[in-house]
Amino acid sequence: MRIYAVANQKGGVGKTTSTINLGRALSELGRRVLLVDFDPQGHLTEAIGAPAAPAEGANLARALLGQWSGELGDLLHKVSDNLFVLCTSDDMFLLEPQMYARTGREQLLSRFLDALTDVFDDVVIDCPPSLGAINDSALVATRRRTTGGHSEVTGKIIIPVGAEDSSIRALRLLLRQVRTLCEALNIELNIAGLLVNLYDARRGKVATTTLEAFKNHPLGVVEVIHDRAKVRDSWRERTPLMDYAPDSENAEAFRNLARRLAVNEIPGTTAGATTAVTA
Ligand SMILES: Nc1ncnc2c1ncn2[C@@H]1O[C@H](COP(=O)(O)OP(=O)(O)OP(=O)(O)O)[C@@H](O)[C@H]1O
Ligand SMILES: [Mg+2]
Repeated sequence: MRIYAVANQKGGVGKTTSTINLGRALSELGRRVLLVDFDPQGHLTEAIGAPAAPAEGANLARALLGQWSGELGDLLHKVSDNLFVLCTSDDMFLLEPQMYARTGREQLLSRFLDALTDVFDDVVIDCPPSLGAINDSALVATRRRTTGGHSEVTGKIIIPVGAEDSSIRALRLLLRQVRTLCEALNIELNIAGLLVNLYDARRGKVATTTLEAFKNHPLGVVEVIHDRAKVRDSWRERTPLMDYAPDSENAEAFRNLARRLAVNEIPGTTAGATTAVTA
């Protein structure tokens, strides 16, 4: 199983949009994909037109905290063949404060997902716009490990960034957090690279020079997604862009990213206790 955390504490850079469309594109390749709505805002659940899980019943937050145990299938919502979602719930905002009271909180999501290694090929996690415990546990879930003695889990962090100056400072903070986590837990994490989103060359120099800066960044650019009304329209229609506008250039870009990830064409950059990731 491969786990991708789509992360950036900066708001509105396209984490949710990228999670949905990368996941949908991976499922088009015949891979069994699970999307995780790991942001208490619940945007992914909303954008994909899924119902929120019941606050008092079977939901991800309660499962992670050990307050619910039952059939894992009860937590999954089917979107289409090969594509499932772990939805948000109205009590998801209670998860993070309760995580802080736990030791080993960084491993909560990893342990939960490890039980799904035989069910899914890929897991794509939509992270919240913060550097808190939820985000940490999504980042840690991407580390390489073996589960149950035989199945291997690998993963990558994908960082959507907007083509604007404030994204560069946000990136520095995120990379510092990744380094801190790696050192504190003595683990290594792999960053696939930067997914430049909302790119519009008509915005002039700010957009084009920021894109250049990202292309020159040691992490590298994995794909460029253009600022297009169809992305917003697809959200309103509760349909992945991949289905709403399958022939659009952005759909093609997500398909290209999914294909390269599926065939392991993106080596990424290792961050860890012994290796420095450049900010
Ligand atoms: N390439 C794009 N072209 C046009 N609109 C886009 C594009 N990418 C994202 N959007 C729109 O921008 C808004 C923010 O995108 P999205 O919710 O995916 O970002 P986010 O990083 O998940 O935000 P948050 O930090 O709040 O979780 C949404 O309304 C989305 O439809
Ligand atoms: Mg989001």
